[in-house]
Parts: sequence; C-alpha cells; structure tokens
Amino acid sequence: MLRKLHQDQPESFAFTPDNLAWARAEITKYPEGRQASAVIALLWRAQEQEGWVSRPAIEYVAAMLDMPQIRVLEVATFYFMFHLSPMGSVAHVQVCGTTPCMLCGAEDLVAVCKRRIHKRAHTRSADGKLSWEEVECLGACANAPMAQIGKDYYEDLTAETFERILDELEAGRVPTPGSQSGRFASEPSGGLTSLTEPGKGGPAHNASVGRALELGDTIKRIDGTEVALEAPWLADSPSTAETAAGRKPELLDAPRAGGADDLRKLKGVGPKLEERLNAQGVYHYDQVASWGPAEIAWMDATLDLRGRIERDGWVAQARALAAGAG
Ligand code: FES
Repeated sequence: MLRKLHQDQPESFAFTPDNLAWARAEITKYPEGRQASAVIALLWRAQEQEGWVSRPAIEYVAAMLDMPQIRVLEVATFYFMFHLSPMGSVAHVQVCGTTPCMLCGAEDLVAVCKRRIHKRAHTRSADGKLSWEEVECLGACANAPMAQIGKDYYEDLTAETFERILDELEAGRVPTPGSQSGRFASEPSGGLTSLTEPGKGGPAHNASVGRALELGDTIKRIDGTEVALEAPWLADSPSTAETAAGRKPELLDAPRAGGADDLRKLKGVGPKLEERLNAQGVYHYDQVASWGPAEIAWMDATLDLRGRIERDGWVAQARALAAGAG
C-alpha cells in the first residue's frame, strides 16, 4: 500500500502542555545522544492528540528530538499503526483479515465496514465519526472473527453483532468489549469439556473485559491527563512537574565583554525576538546551548513562544554556533 502524507495538512502542530510534559519526561528514558529512540513514542502521542500524524507533527517531533525530518517521516510512513490521514472522530475500527478470522467470517465484517463507513479503508464516514481498515492477526484467533476498536477487542463477531456495535458507537455509547457470542473467554465455543462447573459467584467478565469496563476508556484517546509518567531516574534531576512548569535559566544583566552574539542566526529569530531575548537577559549562544527541557519550558512560557525553541531546534544550533564562536 502506498503510504504518503495526506494532501490536506494543518498549518501547525504543537503538543498540549500536558502532552509536552509527558514527551519531555519520555525523552529522558534514553541516554544522552540517544534521544531519537523516543521517536515512535512521540509520534504515537502526536497521533493520540490529533487522531492522525500530520506533516507539521512530523516536523515538530523531528525538532524535539534533533532528528532530520526525513528520518521521522521514514518511521511514520513505515509503521502502519501511524495514520497519515484523518481518522474517525469517534473510533477507528481495525478488522482482522488474517486466515483464522477470514475463515470465520471476516469478509462479512469488511463488507459491513464498506457499506456502513466508507467503501475505501482509511477514509472517514460521511459524518466523520468512523473509519476502518483491515489489519493482520491481532492475536485473538481463538475468538475469530474479531476487530479492535480503540483500545479493546470485540470478538466472536457476526455481521449482525458487528453492526450493533457500530450503531452503539454512532449513538455515542461504548459497547462492552470481549466476546459477543456469550463466551466468557476463549473456552471451546461448543461448551466446556473439562472443569465443567465453574465456581458460582465468579466475575461476570474475564479480566480483560472487566478491566476495560472499569477504565471505561475504550475509545478515549490519550490526552496527557492520565497518571503522570513514572520517571524515578529523574529523582536527582528536574522532576517531571518542574520540567513542565519550567525553571528560570541563567540570565545576564548585560552582554559579556566582547558584545552580544547575533541571536538572529537561530532559526526563526528576527530583530524583534532578539530584542525580547536580550531584554530577558539572553545574549549569548552558550546561554541558549545550556538550556535543558525545564529551561526551555520557562523561556517558552515567559516569551510565549509556543514550542518554537524545540520546533526550530535552537539548542542544537546554539551549540554549533557557540563551538564556532569559540
Ligand atoms: S487471525 Fe484474527 S486475530 Fe488472529
């Protein structure tokens, strides 16, 4: 399948403050110089935020990780889990089309998708609520045919039960995941052949379905407001919260002897922004080069730069300029 960027692209992309704090903590999982390893995690978060991966999102992630944009584009276009065009606002339906599901009726499910959602996969329904695609084995073959919707599996489907699920989603409800034929888990579909008397008073649902019902987030996209990323390795460095809130970098009252550096050499800095940086106490490349995530967050918030420092890669440029100047 041809994987290319969508013809209609948004003007820009920026992580929400919650997602930005998460992304900065995520990057610290990797040793210095290996930040590019966070590329899939950041692209995934961008997709969760917007519903798909746009070109500005790819450029933003590249700037954040100090990677050439083409390398991030390669990752986004290689992995099918990244959607390169807008998906359904309510849910994206992934129907398994591999052999066991195919033998058990996956084609009927695909026919429902083509009729109910759109004749082409990866294309939104007329009301924009749903989209669909056929995927490879999702590892639930004992409950074939099945589909993943959002975070959960809907199993033992028929065209009828599948249509009911789509009805529910369109009506703004989230149907109960798991087997749709009454099976508890993946016991024989013809009934139990051993341990035939399960304990009375046991749970109504298997653990996966029970947990899905408890969380209730089957089709809710991750938005950064979940439990904060556990980052115990940050114990001696700025906390995730501090990184998010920002920390004032070292600022100067005046340029050092020899005069201020030409900050306009940083991408996106014109005379006006240079003036504002100077007014804030930033005059030299080595000052910018020393900024970490917490300092960037502080400068970004103070000068209302909306992610520009990271997006335009100021720190890496300042490092190179400082090395050249020295
Ligand atoms: S073949 Fe469909 S889940 Fe394995």
